[in-house]
Amino acid sequence: MQVRSVATTPFNDQKPGTSGLRKRVQVFCQAHYLENFVQSIFASIAAPPGATLALGGDGRYYNREAIQIILRMASANGFGRVLVGRGGILSTPAVSCVIRKYQTYGGIILSASHNPGGPDGDFGIKYNTANGGPAPEKITEAVYAASKKIAQYRIIDAPDVALDNLGDSKLGDMIVSVIDPVGDYAELMESLFDFAAIRKLLSGGFRIKFDAMHAVTGPYAREIFVNRLGAPPDSVINAEPLADFGGGHPDPNLTYAHELVEALYGANAPDFGAASDGDGDRNMILGRQFFVTPSDSLAILAANAHLVPGYQQGLAGIARSMPTSAAADRVAAALDIPCYETPTGWKFFGNLMDAGKVTLCGEESFGTGSDHIREKDGLWAVLFWLNILAARKQSVETIVREHWARFGRNVYSRHDYEGIPGDAANGVMRLLHERFGEWQGAQLGNYRVLFCDDFSYTDPVDGSVSTGQGVRIGFTDGSRIVFRLSGTGTEGATLRIYLESFEPDVAKHHLDAQEALAELIGIALEISELRERTGRDRPTVVT
Ligand code: G1P
Ligand code: ZN
Repeated sequence: MQVRSVATTPFNDQKPGTSGLRKRVQVFCQAHYLENFVQSIFASIAAPPGATLALGGDGRYYNREAIQIILRMASANGFGRVLVGRGGILSTPAVSCVIRKYQTYGGIILSASHNPGGPDGDFGIKYNTANGGPAPEKITEAVYAASKKIAQYRIIDAPDVALDNLGDSKLGDMIVSVIDPVGDYAELMESLFDFAAIRKLLSGGFRIKFDAMHAVTGPYAREIFVNRLGAPPDSVINAEPLADFGGGHPDPNLTYAHELVEALYGANAPDFGAASDGDGDRNMILGRQFFVTPSDSLAILAANAHLVPGYQQGLAGIARSMPTSAAADRVAAALDIPCYETPTGWKFFGNLMDAGKVTLCGEESFGTGSDHIREKDGLWAVLFWLNILAARKQSVETIVREHWARFGRNVYSRHDYEGIPGDAANGVMRLLHERFGEWQGAQLGNYRVLFCDDFSYTDPVDGSVSTGQGVRIGFTDGSRIVFRLSGTGTEGATLRIYLESFEPDVAKHHLDAQEALAELIGIALEISELRERTGRDRPTVVT
């Protein structure tokens, strides 16, 4: 088969964000756009000839076409083998699992995570390294640099590879192995959790509902919850992956997972509800009429890890992203293990896990995971909860309230202002930077400012420094306001405000978070001049 060098010119917008390159489908479908980025990846990773790659995506619109292009380019670039999920499907955690299990050189994941799909939606691509985790910044920066000077890419002329049947075929000199996307992952889950205890729980009248949001976790959830754990088939809803996610927004939160939320807050609600996102790495956990914040979830998993077979030997440490609440820090202190605070994005956890410094990691953005792989993992978090529920035989709400009673409650909320003009968003951030100095020690309402800064992080393993990771205003009572611009959006800017206060008093634990945080919310809006500068009088999404 003929290897061709195709002449191309750079696009100037191929800078990977928080999690790979995400753009509108129309942008990715432009001639040479995907090819340029893929060649830039290959140019930056120094794979030896004959190396193996894992490849799969969340099934969104353009997934199949992109897989065929990447396979032809991988062959032309000298890869020896590509493990691709059947139908081009692999969840993000499953790719991480496959990379590790088969010790591939790396992997390519096609997903724009929780962003909507379909011809008018988003598409995305990211590269993961041999540890199974997202490429660190030094690689993503090299990819961006390569994309700015690319002049040609390599591809072979060949017919499409049949992706729907398991087994090997040849593409030029390269072997394409179509693998079962679910099996390896399900086996890994079975090795970590007490499936027998969960099966017993589910056969004893404990009812669960899992919302796959018409995204990639449908087949995984069916295999694990229904086939292996014996849950009734209707426990998994929206289980059919669709290229446009059924027109929905595959983000597991109280706003977008509304079908699940209605079921859990309605009459005759199940005991436990959960959802995952487009590519299967996020999770939302609900009890009957009860929402567990992702920050609390991380802390509760850590505090109960001794009940779970895969974690009974103890936790090395915990890591959380900076905007995530400090609930996990309190558990770490009680367990006498370190707690690391990293910038937003899973890529910062990889080094800590590889160095054996942390076992559990989490982000407030519905991401939780452990060192079993190097990505956050939606179904893993759901199984961890089910394992705890099976061991403790209490309701979700009771477990959370007992946790708060023991550790205190880190009241938490995030307010997102989506799709605001870039200038207005940058103006807000500039203003905050300019005013820093004035606020040190200032009294804002009932709160006294302890510190203000722009978060920067020095990786304790490789010493790399990441600056400009979000404006933090910390108060003397432990409350916090954080402002950050999203690095995953594709339209306009998204400004996130993270709000947190600490409540040790059990008598106040019943308060609604928005109520408890009302004064901090007011302060955040006032000091940022957000309403004046953006014309928005309320957030788009509150979590
Ligand atoms: C968002 C989340 C972040 C997460 C990322 C990828 O990034 O806030 O925690 O790691 O998606 O799922 P952001 O849009 O804030 O840059
Ligand atoms: Zn995701």
